[in-house]
This record gives sequence, structure tokens and C-alpha cells, in this order.
Amino acid sequence: MSAWIEIGKLDDIPIRGSRIVETPAGQLALFRTSDDGVFALVNRCPHRGGPLSEGLVSGKVVVCPLHGWTIDLESGSATAPDEGCTPRMTVRVENGRLWLPSGGTFPHDP
Ligand code: FES
Repeated sequence: MSAWIEIGKLDDIPIRGSRIVETPAGQLALFRTSDDGVFALVNRCPHRGGPLSEGLVSGKVVVCPLHGWTIDLESGSATAPDEGCTPRMTVRVENGRLWLPSGGTFPHDP
């Protein structure tokens, strides 16, 4: 069974916004959808590395603030016809608290 690290509260993330978490593997952006879904992606757009944490969440995508690519929060993939993928990480929400797998790696790297 893998270990989990508590990293804060759901309410630390604005609805349709994000919060940055520093991990040993790099900066992670946690996104919250309007229905309280939480997703964790590396804070780097697959296009030219834009800070996804500064983008707006719409449904289950985040719009990159630099050139407007949309990145799927569940898969980390850019919406076609754009191509590319941002590594993502599992995030667990339990009783309003957020947890990441310990180890600081990105198990879902493409
Ligand atoms: S860097 Fe994200 S769309 Fe260009």
C-alpha cells in the first residue's frame, strides 16, 4: 500500500482556480473544478512551458494563459489539434483534506 502525504485543504484552492505545491519532483498545480473535482498536473504547459496554474479552469480543462491551449485535467493532454501532454499525479480528497502519494514522483508521466 502506498503512503500519502497531506498537503492542505480543498478550500485552499479557489473554485475554478488552482494552487501550487512544491514537490521533490517539481512544481505541481492543483486545480479545482466547479463541482469540487481536484486534479494535479505539472505546472508546465506542453506547448512552451506556460504556467498552467495561472490559467482558468473551464469544465475539466484548464486554458493556458500564454497562448490559449486547453489541457485536459484528467489526462494532461492538449485538446486536438494541439499535441502534447503534461504529466499528472493522483490526488486524493478526503473529508475536505488533500493528499498526494509520497515519493514526489509523477506516476502518470506519458
Ligand atoms: S505555452 Fe501554453 S499555450 Fe503556449
